[in-house]
Amino acid sequence: MKNILIGGGTGFIGTRLSNLLLGSGYRVTIVSRMPGLNHITWTDLDRNGLPNDTSAVVNLAGQNVLDPTRSWSAGFKQNVWNSRINTTSSIVRAIQSAKEKPEVFVNISGVSNYKPNEKKIYTEDDASEDYDFMSKLCNEWEKAATIDKEAGVRTVKIRTGVVLGREGGMIRSLIIPFWFGFGGPVASGLQPLPWIHITDLCNLIKYSIENKKVEGVLNGVAPQIINNLDFTKSFGKALWRPTLIPLPEFVVNKMFTEERAVLLTSGAKIKPKRTVETGFEYEFPEIYPACKDVGSLFMY
Ligand SMILES: NC(=O)c1ccc[n+]([C@@H]2O[C@H](COP(=O)([O-])OP(=O)(O)OC[C@H]3O[C@@H](n4cnc5c(N)ncnc54)[C@H](OP(=O)(O)O)[C@@H]3O)[C@@H](O)[C@H]2O)c1
Repeated sequence: MKNILIGGGTGFIGTRLSNLLLGSGYRVTIVSRMPGLNHITWTDLDRNGLPNDTSAVVNLAGQNVLDPTRSWSAGFKQNVWNSRINTTSSIVRAIQSAKEKPEVFVNISGVSNYKPNEKKIYTEDDASEDYDFMSKLCNEWEKAATIDKEAGVRTVKIRTGVVLGREGGMIRSLIIPFWFGFGGPVASGLQPLPWIHITDLCNLIKYSIENKKVEGVLNGVAPQIINNLDFTKSFGKALWRPTLIPLPEFVVNKMFTEERAVLLTSGAKIKPKRTVETGFEYEFPEIYPACKDVGSLFMY
């Protein structure tokens, strides 16, 4: 049975991915800050390298940037940075020094390296830019995920939009206010919202592991380009709730500090061109069925 190592596998996406892989007959080992059953720690990884028989490695580690309980201090920013760059570097070092190399490394990062632009629709073919903290973080994250060619390990770098799932992320934060009728657009609502259903993201990670022809950067976003208002209306409709109470931009900036509030108040239009070209098929290519799925209340 093939063993898959998942950095940050205890989180929202990692838990769903682990269940998908276990259900498909793989073994899963998680790299976590905490020891546990089928877990190794980052220190174990640095000291002992990859566990035996590791055939694929996925990295999902990262401190939650939009944790409302944490102020955007220099220390927290460093934590956000290190939790992505240092974990990715540790994994790459372990892969490069392994005697028996895994077949594939899949790194999950964000889409902030596409600079918001009203007219442009980005694909994986566009150059990424360093224009603010989040874009620099995404670019450095991908650089850290680069494995020396001689190692011969296929590498897939998935840039993912906002992940929609019941168990965490944005939906977890919005379900209560929307359910009580306090939902509404963020800022003008006109800012693009690159998104993907968690089922599709986990399927895309598994697809990347299993398909030898898949390599390089893939946009992990749904094919339908929407803005924040489209999402708001679809989620409200899925819950049978009005969405009349906007969240003004100055409030979001005050809550989160502008440097990270950009994750909510701005966004780029992004197409998953290469992802579709590989033959990957989405279960939720459109926003309303995705919202209906994650908003079905009997699941909460
Ligand atoms: N969810 C989204 O909408 C979304 C969108 C774009 C990109 N992403 C990226 O996808 C990855 C996974 O997202 P997620 O939503 O599953 O996140 P999550 O639920 O917050 O889980 C991330 C995992 O990272 C580990 N972690 C947290 N802080 C850490 C730190 N300071 N140092 C080392 N490890 C740390 C934790 O594992 P342990 O506690 O076991 O150590 C945690 O389970 C993240 O890198 C995130 O930036 C997510």
